[in-house]
Amino acid sequence: MITSVYAKAGIHDPRLRDAFRVCRRLARQRYPHLADCMRVLPAEVTLGMSALGATFMRIDDLTDYGAGSAEERIRRASAWITALEEDVERGDSTDPVRKAMVHLTHALDFPVDSIRPLNERMTRDAARAAPGTWQEWTQYQRPILGPCLAALDWVASRLGAPLTISAGHTEAMIDMMLGLQLVDDLTDLAEDLDNDYVKLPLEALNACGLTAQNLLERRWTPATAQLMRSTTERARALLHPDEPAIDWTFTSAVFMGAFRRLAMVQLRQVEEAGAAILAQPLTLPYATRQRILLPTRAKAALIWKLSPFTRGALSAPAPPQHRAPADLLARHSAPLIPVLPPPPHSSGARPPALNDTQLPRHVAIIMDGNGRWAADHALPRAEGHRAGAEALHDVVHGALEIGLPYLTVYTFSTENWNRSSAEVKAILDVVRDNVADQKLFDLDLRFCWSGVPDGLPKDLVEGLQERERTTRHRTKLTLTVCINYGGRSELAIAAQSLAQAAVAGRVNPVSINQHTLASHLPLPDLPDVDLLWRTGGEQRTSNFLPWQSIYAELHFTPAHWPDIDRRDLWQAITTYTQRQRRYGTARTETDTQIPAPRKNELHTT
Ligand code: IPE
Ligand code: IPE
Ligand code: MG
Repeated sequence: MITSVYAKAGIHDPRLRDAFRVCRRLARQRYPHLADCMRVLPAEVTLGMSALGATFMRIDDLTDYGAGSAEERIRRASAWITALEEDVERGDSTDPVRKAMVHLTHALDFPVDSIRPLNERMTRDAARAAPGTWQEWTQYQRPILGPCLAALDWVASRLGAPLTISAGHTEAMIDMMLGLQLVDDLTDLAEDLDNDYVKLPLEALNACGLTAQNLLERRWTPATAQLMRSTTERARALLHPDEPAIDWTFTSAVFMGAFRRLAMVQLRQVEEAGAAILAQPLTLPYATRQRILLPTRAKAALIWKLSPFTRGALSAPAPPQHRAPADLLARHSAPLIPVLPPPPHSSGARPPALNDTQLPRHVAIIMDGNGRWAADHALPRAEGHRAGAEALHDVVHGALEIGLPYLTVYTFSTENWNRSSAEVKAILDVVRDNVADQKLFDLDLRFCWSGVPDGLPKDLVEGLQERERTTRHRTKLTLTVCINYGGRSELAIAAQSLAQAAVAGRVNPVSINQHTLASHLPLPDLPDVDLLWRTGGEQRTSNFLPWQSIYAELHFTPAHWPDIDRRDLWQAITTYTQRQRRYGTARTETDTQIPAPRKNELHTT
């Protein structure tokens, strides 16, 4: 006898079955592959994920498509979520997707309040603006995919089949989801063009000599073919097809593994489609999908049966009195704290108006002169470091105001251990106090720590990592703080990681080039430095960012760091705009500022 998925999951109420049925149908229509892949999971998990998936799709559809201005579409999505929240309070709904969600919320204690912030992250989609660079493309997707994964993982975990086991694993899954997203963007290209929507970043188009308009005109040229090739390659790299999923949970190994296999077949289809990709969306025939997935389904079903998998109950009816707080997103992504604008400078100074092409992308600062500042004021050196932290806050505010995307600061070098233990302790105490202080982290900044834990107090390392984790969805400014950082040590770490990959057979030693090495740096996404600024009058770089700074414009100023404020940053940036960057080319009389090449262009072999 074939038992239905609803019976297996203990859902007997016919109206509730209908609600879940609608969710599954929506998932099948919109993402047939997702629906296929969910069938490798236990019935409860399939249904739970369908309800969530249908919710995401509803919100996404309401924001993204349909009539009206972006604001109207966003309002419609918001009203749908309000209705969901009210339905959860009442314990039932007339809308099938919301009905399934009401059940999920009550049966699994799902924090439904986490849905609204997710929607807020999706709303940027409403503007239908093409991302400028791959970096922006990723920065836009990650804050959405992270919470979606967190929500799916919550449900799967409650049902005894967790998807992720560690932060590293979550990251790998998000990478794969980015790959899947890109595969979707390729296969649905024609449909998006029908809606006058170009989802691929302009950087990718420009690299092939195309504009968004060219793509919208749908002419198949060698440039379009090249765009398809390079995007396919990128998607394939994100999917990590050769990486064994050994440290994955069984659930994600079967679920994401199935997804990955389908996606690889789709990429082949894209490669073979030629001009057809511009005419209509590419689909994989049902039979092909089944041929790929059936063996996995059979194996997984057997293992679910035999394994001591403790099933949670999707059938549990009693609505709990107190639902869990909305910490779902916080677990994997971010606390739901509001992002505050930077306070203005006390003088009322405003940043110079520079356009994106003039603005450096990455400013790195050697904040030197704290000790001398303290001596000048007859204060202990520790006070110099405290005053230095205040200066950094102001400079960060200035970076946000002027719209700088990357700011990296040198706080404590591996060589600074050579100072007295009292001074080292004073510096680290200042760092600890600043990490604990919420002020900085209410701003729209993604905090990154560069450096090694060796020798640092454990609580400080944990504090830094926590701040990284809770701000990683932020998009405006990436603030990288170098603590216990040494440039050579960073390169040695990259070499070690590369050697390990070679020994494991993931990298062929003869094909190692500068891109490969760059991708093994501890912070591979950190772009090249455009402007390297040192205060305090010394003119050296003291083991700071050797890899990233090879073509940086250098700027040295005499003032001690604690005397610096955001106006000095703006001045440094203004100076930068007057530099002529040549990257090895010859100077011509008509030259003005040569735009910086993108990271990968500079790293050509
Ligand atoms: C920079 O200021 C901060 C750190 C190196 C931690 P210094 O402490 O180096 O100040 P000076 O160079 O002695 O004045
Ligand atoms: C560089 O400053 C390190 C930081 C600013 C954290 P130092 O003051 O330690 O550099 P040197 O030793 O004078 O080159
Ligand atoms: Mg110094």
